[in-house]
Amino acid sequence: MQIKKIDINLIDEIFLISFEQFQKESWTKQQFAECLNDSNYVCFGIFENDKLISYVLALESLDDVNILSIATKEKYKNKGFASALLEHLKKYSKLNNKTLSLEVKSKNHVAINLYTKLGFKIVSSRLNYYKDKDTAIIMFYM
Ligand SMILES: CC(C)(COP(=O)(O)OP(=O)(O)OC[C@H]1O[C@@H](n2cnc3c(N)ncnc32)[C@H](O)[C@@H]1OP(=O)(O)O)[C@@H](O)C(=O)NCCC(=O)NCCS
Repeated sequence: MQIKKIDINLIDEIFLISFEQFQKESWTKQQFAECLNDSNYVCFGIFENDKLISYVLALESLDDVNILSIATKEKYKNKGFASALLEHLKKYSKLNNKTLSLEVKSKNHVAINLYTKLGFKIVSSRLNYYKDKDTAIIMFYM
């Protein structure tokens, strides 16, 4: 399984996966473009036959790598692709001496399960954080 850095050229493929998975909660193409054109963000992906099947996008600050979006194409789910990207980011953040963090909706049990399995710990929560009033769970891998 090969993980490659993604740039703005793959914006259509990223948006397609994001829209498939997050639907009306997906970021817009414009929002992805702003990140992919900004060197403070990193994006990695996994491909099959040169087609993107899973991606992760994160914002790098001085001491932390903050995961902003991660998704896997429907038909490739539960095959370990998101885990591989997260393991890659764990190594990447360690190498750069940074923590790895994320924020997830409390009702997203699939994602919370995955993050917990990979060693992320819940450090705090924000009530009514999202538009639909769901709580944000803040997790760190340190
Ligand atoms: C979350 C997501 C990125 C995981 O991608 P993936 O490539 O399928 O992930 P992996 O195959 O590496 O990991 C699968 C793990 O997810 C969790 N999981 C999968 N289905 C689950 C279910 N029905 N209930 C609970 N946990 C589940 C488990 O921890 C599972 O690991 P296990 O098989 O060892 O139990 C993918 O489900 C997705 O795109 N979801 C929609 C977008 C999203 O919610 N992103 C996260 C926002 S913070």
